[in-house]
Parts: sequence; C-alpha cells; structure tokens
Amino acid sequence: MDFKEYIRVIPDFPQEGISFKDITTLMQNGPVYQQSINELKKMVEHLQIDVIAGPEARGFVVGAPLAYALGVAFVPIRKAGKLPYKTIQADYALEYGQDSLAMHADAITEGQNVLIADDLLATGGTIATSINLIRQLGGNVVGTAFMIELQDLNGREKLPDVDVFTLTQYP
Ligand code: PRP
Repeated sequence: MDFKEYIRVIPDFPQEGISFKDITTLMQNGPVYQQSINELKKMVEHLQIDVIAGPEARGFVVGAPLAYALGVAFVPIRKAGKLPYKTIQADYALEYGQDSLAMHADAITEGQNVLIADDLLATGGTIATSINLIRQLGGNVVGTAFMIELQDLNGREKLPDVDVFTLTQYP
C-alpha cells in the first residue's frame, strides 16, 4: 500500500518553509491506520522488544498501538513538566524550535530492550534525545520505527548506531 496517498501535506505549517506531513488523514481511515501499524509490526517483530517508548504526542498514536499489537509494554516520553512522578530530563532542538523531553525514572528496567516509535523522523533531534534518556535509564535501544522519514533532513546521521525502520520516505 502507498501510505502517502493517505498522508496530507500542508505547505508552510507551522511556519513558512515547513512542509507538514499530517497523519490525521491516514488515521481517519481505520483499515489504513490498522495496516500501517501491522506493516511496522512486521518490520520490527524479529527484534526482542520488551518496551516501546513513544515521544509525545504523535509518538503515542504510533507507539501505543504497535505495543498492543506486539503484546509489549508502552512508556511515554513527554514534554518536560507533564509526568507526575520522579523524572529524568534532556533538552533538544526541533525542526522548528526547542523543547525538553522527560521520562519517568522507573519507566525502563536496566537491560530491557526498547524500540522507539514515532510518526516522523525529521532532523532526528527528538529520537537522539529519546535514545539518550533511555540509555541513561539502562535500556538497550534495539531500533527505531517511524511512519514517515524526511530524507533531506538527514535524521539517520544522528542515529548511527541504531536500526531505523520507516514506512514511507519523502525526499
Ligand atoms: C514532531 C514529530 C516528531 C518530531 C520529529 O513532534 O512528531 O516527534 O517532531 O522531528 P525531529 O526529527 O526533527 O526531532 P513535535 O515535537 O512537533 O510534537 P507533537 O508530536 O506533540 O506535535
């Protein structure tokens, strides 16, 4: 299936020069949303995954159903200040802007195999920071999975030592 047919592209959002890839239109089609998760599942099911970690907010709508499909745990990576328990935190640069990400200090048990899932790999900043947080907690990052890769932004260069699985690629 060509998932691009279901992804809406919005020019100049949220600012001029950014071509926003909108997965809400893909998710509005139940069978296509289900198939996108099933395709990602096929790409990663050979990995010995214990936990999927997904960065807020769009990482939740990819990571949680993927965790459910695989029967593994899901843990959230949230913008700083949202998680209620003890956290660890790291700053990161976005494609547009800057933010901090946080995880619960007990989200990962030492030695667990963790897959990170998100809707989009752009500059790779979000995922590089997520990897940093997971490794601080003793997790073993076994791969990363995305619905969309923006190839021109060279996000993979920030992830030299992890496998990257993507459903669709835009130049
Ligand atoms: C978007 C997207 C990825 C990230 C990709 O999230 O969902 O998480 O940016 O960009 P990067 O590879 O350059 O880091 P955003 O931070 O906009 O948050 P949202 O999901 O809450 O909209």
